[in-house]
Amino acid sequence: MTPDHARVTEIDAIVLGAGAAGLMCAAVAGQRGLRVAVLDHAPEVGRKILISGGGRCNFTNLHTAPDRYLSQNAHFARSALSRYTPQDFLTLVESYGIAWHEKTLGQLFCDGSAKQIVAMLLEECAKGGVTIACEQSIRAVDHADGMFSVQTDSRQWRASALVVATGGPSIPKMGATGFAYELARQFGVKVVQPRPALVPLTLPAEEALFRELSGVATPVSVRVTQGPWGKAQFREAALFTHRGLSGPAILQISSYWQRGVALGVNFTPDAPAGWLVEAKRNQPKQGLRRTLGEHLPDRLVGALLDQLQLAGELGAQSDKALRAAEARLMDWRFDPNGSEGYAKAEVTAGGISTADMSSRTMEAKSVPGLYAIGEAMDVTGWLGGYNFQWAWASAHAAASAM
Ligand code: FDA
Repeated sequence: MTPDHARVTEIDAIVLGAGAAGLMCAAVAGQRGLRVAVLDHAPEVGRKILISGGGRCNFTNLHTAPDRYLSQNAHFARSALSRYTPQDFLTLVESYGIAWHEKTLGQLFCDGSAKQIVAMLLEECAKGGVTIACEQSIRAVDHADGMFSVQTDSRQWRASALVVATGGPSIPKMGATGFAYELARQFGVKVVQPRPALVPLTLPAEEALFRELSGVATPVSVRVTQGPWGKAQFREAALFTHRGLSGPAILQISSYWQRGVALGVNFTPDAPAGWLVEAKRNQPKQGLRRTLGEHLPDRLVGALLDQLQLAGELGAQSDKALRAAEARLMDWRFDPNGSEGYAKAEVTAGGISTADMSSRTMEAKSVPGLYAIGEAMDVTGWLGGYNFQWAWASAHAAASAM
């Protein structure tokens, strides 16, 4: 009798990874008439979709544009994003009767559950006759005579197209791995140094005063003015944690941050210029604490005044001191000493180098038939549905080209 692992199944395309990108790619390719199999080591498909957006999946963003993605090649995402748009995905979502809403800033979420998105992708795969196999350990991947072969415990799959859709290493406890990078290197495709992104940042012990504010959130504008990934500024909420800083504004800026780069936080983004001196003129008897409390949470005001070494009534402060305080509140410097790492990072930045891939088809320039899509690539979106939109768009580009 033939041992199981020697069984060979020949198809048109093997997709490694049954996440957002892999399922989308398989569905589109299957519906184009290709024989497709998706292999994943996890016990169930789409695990990150299921936990995304607090269980409601922020499945796209209406403001998707190439400049909302980080990559060594800032233009790489343009082609795929323009050929499969947020509206295209929304049309698919609506065709399944999935109710949705815009939460804020163009972010679209399911009204019900992220399970609906996974069910939709599975149904799309079924329409394309796609084979989906979970709990598959990928033992070896080989390439000879224009055919890829993938050996699992139970059989060998052979196909002329291999799609790498195994994502990046963020959240290892969900089954995330750096397998895509190993495969890329095996085929001589470069990898841009991966790093945790959309991740909380940690503050050094000297900033203990701020770490004591754990749980306090406030709207800020946060920026980096220099760094390897350029300038960036985000206006959203920041949250103090027992280890440092989090909240949407910090997660966003973390993708542009590296050790040694200071963050400038504007704690009073809505206050007009000269507001503290103006407040002194109008209400000299009002305490500073109360004045700042009109803009900021009380616990934060206490910490900031402590650092500013100011106390008492407005009228007791010189205009110069108030102007200096105002300037500092608008550009408070934090020097994070690290991040919470892959354990807490929503995505991985860096990855398979776009320099070695076609932006139209996601195919490796030097290895015909080898494709990489989704988070495995060196394309990382902002927070707010941009990463799923990249997964759908890059998957669609590859599937349309195979
Ligand atoms: P994804 O990680 O989804 O899929 C990869 C698949 O490959 C997985 O099924 C994995 O099991 C499999 N795999 C990995 N290694 C393997 C191996 N060695 N062998 C076999 N299989 C392997 N984005 C967004 O746009 N909106 C949102 O609301 C959120 N929310 C969110 C919340 C949280 C908590 C996280 C961690 C992330 C998000 N994201 C997000 C990011 C989003 O989840 C992410 O960008 C996409 O899932 C990437 O899709 P991929 O298909 O590329 O990888």
